[in-house]
Amino acid sequence: MQLRFDECEKARFGYRIARLTLDSADESADAERIVEICRTSSVEMLTVRVPTNNIALVQALEALEFRSMDCLVYYECPTEDIPAVKPSTVEIREATFGDVTAVAEIARLCFCAYSGHYHADSRLDRVKVSEAYVDWAQRSCTDRELASCVYVPIVDGIVAGFIILRQNSPTEGEGVLNAVHPNYTGVGIYGQLIVRSKQWCRDNGMKRMVISTQINNLKVQRAWSNRGFHLYKSYYTLHRWFV
Ligand SMILES: CC(C)(COP(=O)(O)OP(=O)(O)OC[C@H]1O[C@@H](n2cnc3c(N)ncnc32)[C@H](O)[C@@H]1OP(=O)(O)O)[C@@H](O)C(=O)NCCC(=O)NCCS
Repeated sequence: MQLRFDECEKARFGYRIARLTLDSADESADAERIVEICRTSSVEMLTVRVPTNNIALVQALEALEFRSMDCLVYYECPTEDIPAVKPSTVEIREATFGDVTAVAEIARLCFCAYSGHYHADSRLDRVKVSEAYVDWAQRSCTDRELASCVYVPIVDGIVAGFIILRQNSPTEGEGVLNAVHPNYTGVGIYGQLIVRSKQWCRDNGMKRMVISTQINNLKVQRAWSNRGFHLYKSYYTLHRWFV
């Protein structure tokens, strides 16, 4: 079990925050051991992701004051045989440095009341949580360590959304953050961004694309399901405060 720390989170929220993602093969994961590791590592807040098939561990964690924050679902799709799709009706191009402000503004609008685990935790400042999305989107446009590619749809010369992609391995690409500006939703732009993202994976040798969201984000799951993606794993997200 390996805790991950992000120094940005300490700077933003003022707490030493760690993350732990367990996989379904990790049967040795034990609630008391997780608490012990956190205490010896001076963790102030832990985000733990538990595969949904391990409900016994979720209940054991709840008994130790962990609280449920969200349920994350992961979808995957092979990229090698993309069936012929209708040509995109919207221009989609790679983001440039000049798009950073527009991408940041869309992130601000789209994620200010998002149903992610940080927004669900009343101990975290909501403004700071929203700013974290803005910062993440902004840095992804300029930092190739964080994102391999950012696509933006352009409507009448205006940036109408974004999708941030990361190459996880030579064979796997991931959609890590994506949104469409509220002025341009409901006309299929997101679906076209997903198709373009699959093409990017395929064109760069990645045989599969993965993407995740909260279980209640039905719109994006509809878009993925209709474009060849299948649900393949899911996690409960829990938080535990130690201070
Ligand atoms: C979710 C979001 C990206 C959708 O953008 P959009 O351009 O309006 O999406 P589209 O018009 O392409 O529609 C997407 C799908 O939602 C479906 N949809 C629309 N309303 C729906 C509803 N109430 N319930 C379920 N599905 C719905 C559409 O049928 C469409 O699927 P289809 O193209 O296969 O028919 C946008 O609203 C947004 O940025 N939301 C906030 C941030 C967010 O949730 N980002 C995604 C994080 S994973």
